[in-house]
Amino acid sequence: MHGPTRHDDIESILYTEEQIAARVNELGAQIAADYADAIERGEEVVLVGLLKGSVMFMADLSRAVKIPVRMDYMAVSSYGNGVKSSGMVRVLKDLSDDIAGCHVLIVEDIIDSGLTLKYIQKNLLSRGPRSVEIVSLLRKDISDQADIACRYLGFVCPDEFLVGYGLDYAERYRNLAEVCVLKPEVYASLL
Ligand code: PRP
Repeated sequence: MHGPTRHDDIESILYTEEQIAARVNELGAQIAADYADAIERGEEVVLVGLLKGSVMFMADLSRAVKIPVRMDYMAVSSYGNGVKSSGMVRVLKDLSDDIAGCHVLIVEDIIDSGLTLKYIQKNLLSRGPRSVEIVSLLRKDISDQADIACRYLGFVCPDEFLVGYGLDYAERYRNLAEVCVLKPEVYASLL
């Protein structure tokens, strides 16, 4: 155990703790400014974190957004332990509270195929919210991605297998403080 990479399975660090923190703070300030009027009118803002990948981002972003918000979570799964989205989205845990009449901001860690957000956005829009927007830390720069309007985006990232800061491979590496590229040989058997 030495240095910031700690794991032998890590190829490189894509975004450092400092780069992530700086971008999250910028997003938080932008979100706070955009929703200030709504808060002023007495309307509620709800951050909806998608478990488990968005846990770190949700924790940091919610503290960077210096306006009163509610926090709720949904657990969905699209990957299982594989490397590519199956296109199947399973709801493992629903929201705890009603979002009718609220401004909903979906907090996601990464947009890959976009299938998860496509499903969640439609699902949440059917519950009568005042608005539904998306904030994602990462968006993969790929052509075969669903058409998702992501209002707040941290980084456009390369099409690599990324882990850390909430992102996993087979439930490992989520607790890395950086967003890292996983060595291909670690997941090669799944390709
Ligand atoms: C991952 C990631 C996103 C989704 C993105 O979640 O956290 O939610 O996949 O992929 P997509 O754009 O191709 O749909 P996963 O289902 O692996 O669950 P997790 O958040 O618990 O890791």
